[in-house]
Amino acid sequence: MKKIIQAVRIKRPDDWHLHLRSGAILKTVLKYSSYTFGRAIIMPNLNPPVVTTEQAENYYRQILKSIPKEHDFQPLMTLFLTEKSNINDIEEGVNRGIIKAVKLYPAGATTNSENGVRDLPNIYKLLEKIARLDIPLLIHGETTDPTVDIFDREAIFVDKILEPLRKKIPDLRIVLEHITTKESVDYVMDSDANLAATITPHHLIINRNSMFKNGIRPHYYCLPLAKRESHRIAIVRAAVSGNSKFFLGTDSAPHLDHLKENACGCAGIFSTPNALSCLAHIFETESALDRLESFTSLNGANYYGLETNKSYIKLSKLKEPKEKIKKISIGSDTLTVFDPGFSLYWTHENI
Ligand code: NCD
Ligand code: ZN
Repeated sequence: MKKIIQAVRIKRPDDWHLHLRSGAILKTVLKYSSYTFGRAIIMPNLNPPVVTTEQAENYYRQILKSIPKEHDFQPLMTLFLTEKSNINDIEEGVNRGIIKAVKLYPAGATTNSENGVRDLPNIYKLLEKIARLDIPLLIHGETTDPTVDIFDREAIFVDKILEPLRKKIPDLRIVLEHITTKESVDYVMDSDANLAATITPHHLIINRNSMFKNGIRPHYYCLPLAKRESHRIAIVRAAVSGNSKFFLGTDSAPHLDHLKENACGCAGIFSTPNALSCLAHIFETESALDRLESFTSLNGANYYGLETNKSYIKLSKLKEPKEKIKKISIGSDTLTVFDPGFSLYWTHENI
């Protein structure tokens, strides 16, 4: 029996931004989410993307089939917005309880986003109707203007695209996803209750130096890129503040290792297996363990207008560090798990 030196009970967490993929990757990674999280907002950037309610329903069924029997997990489905998205189809999906949010990817901003939206004002009419359906618009907030420095793409997006959108459609509920900058933190903090933000575990831990420490580190490459240390600190402050506008979205985004360790490697960090352990470590370091539950288990559900999970988990701090899961096999391939660069002591179980 491993020696436990501290324990905390929190409501079962949810993940408000998750990539599960399909096929063999889905079957391999899902159990790590379903063990830890009660629900997750499932990203629609498959290839081809999940654009229609019918596609979302098929994907939903595929996910359900892969959940281990002993796990209690609910996938919350989203649609990938295009300039041709059909409001009647979206409305039907929402009314039937299948669609919980729609996702805006600026075309070309990230993995499988080529079919995303080229010019946001082209879909303002559609977004006005989505506002009336009262589901959130989830935004990958980076400008795709190639002349903008890649480290400035989020800040420019907030100024040039998000602010005009919010002025034009103030009733639209928006989640600015995986924020990485102090500007985003301040912008969200100063806005009304319609705007919230998700924060990933890895952006709480790495800064932009991490990608280049003694060589190029593809497993720290994700979009939006981690920014400089002052931004990381601002995000940590927001996450541990307990402010109801900030909640967990892991953005766990598995890519097979040979596609990451590549001359043109894919963006995405696979963090689910140790996400909660990393978060407990950060909140403990910030003397904010009493606010971990708000970030992982309360704020997101409240924003989405859903009940918080009924069940609880117990987080235990071990005297000795846990053995880290470094890689997971998929056939002859592997997936590398996010390495926070510090020892992990926190483990958890469902109670
Ligand atoms: C995500 C992916 O791989 O699907 N990648 C990433 O770097 N975060 C897409 C996304 O959320 O940007
Ligand atoms: Zn993502």
